[in-house]
Amino acid sequence: MKKLLKLILMAMVIAAFAACCSKKDNENTGNVTGQDTSLDDIKAKGELVLGLDDAFPPMGFKDDNQEIVGFDIDVAREVCKRMGVELVIQPISWDAIKFELSTKNIDCIWNGMTYNEERAEAMTLSIPYMKNTQVAIVLAASEVNTLADLAGKTVVIQNGSTASDAIDANEGFKDSLKELVKVDDNVQALLDLKVSGSDAVVMDEVVARYYMEKEAGTYKILKETLADEDYVVGFRKGEEALCTEVGKYLKEMAEDGTLAQISETWMGEDLTTVE
Ligand code: ARG
Repeated sequence: MKKLLKLILMAMVIAAFAACCSKKDNENTGNVTGQDTSLDDIKAKGELVLGLDDAFPPMGFKDDNQEIVGFDIDVAREVCKRMGVELVIQPISWDAIKFELSTKNIDCIWNGMTYNEERAEAMTLSIPYMKNTQVAIVLAASEVNTLADLAGKTVVIQNGSTASDAIDANEGFKDSLKELVKVDDNVQALLDLKVSGSDAVVMDEVVARYYMEKEAGTYKILKETLADEDYVVGFRKGEEALCTEVGKYLKEMAEDGTLAQISETWMGEDLTTVE
């Protein structure tokens, strides 16, 4: 009888082990056994390093006191508090998000990052937490009112952003443009619009709305949009444990109203989509 029990126990241990190692595409480099130690590593380190382009209001940006604040920052800070770790904020170039993750300079990209297939291949992505659209923003005085009006004109986008995907997906629009200029961040893109004679910036709607309000009377957003998107948090490929833990707190914060409250603070309404 004892022997039989022992056998059953052994079989159970083997099955559990096989299940845990069956994630063949788990490329987590956490340790040599290939196991996902991402959550334990963060807890042992006592901090989560969040990477962001700090010119992306209201998600993450430098305020007048040069402090990095925003929706994503407040949410991440609360998630970290619930996880029992410190939030560390690390500005990076948006163009280098995958590199910064792989070199472990940062633990996650948490900065209004849109889901796309290429990123899903390269990173482990969280549940979506907010909807966004890609919009074209022009100067208020511009005679451009539709995407068709931008034919023969110059459009500026942020390098490495999904504004590029959105434009690629609207082939007719893309082909109609005179030029597509790529710059480092959206502040530069809007500056180009104001001083360098470009005609429109294609960017995230939440950011465009922020500038519409901050610099009232300066811009208008075209009614036609270019793409519907979801924001997600990006982790190193295979770091499922850390990703799941963050997702768990996002869900908890959706349920207890914290997410809605943070959204209202920064966006004036609840734009979050976590269920
Ligand atoms: N949502 C777009 C993307 O994921 C734009 C974000 C770019 N900039 C940023 N600072 N988050 O590509």
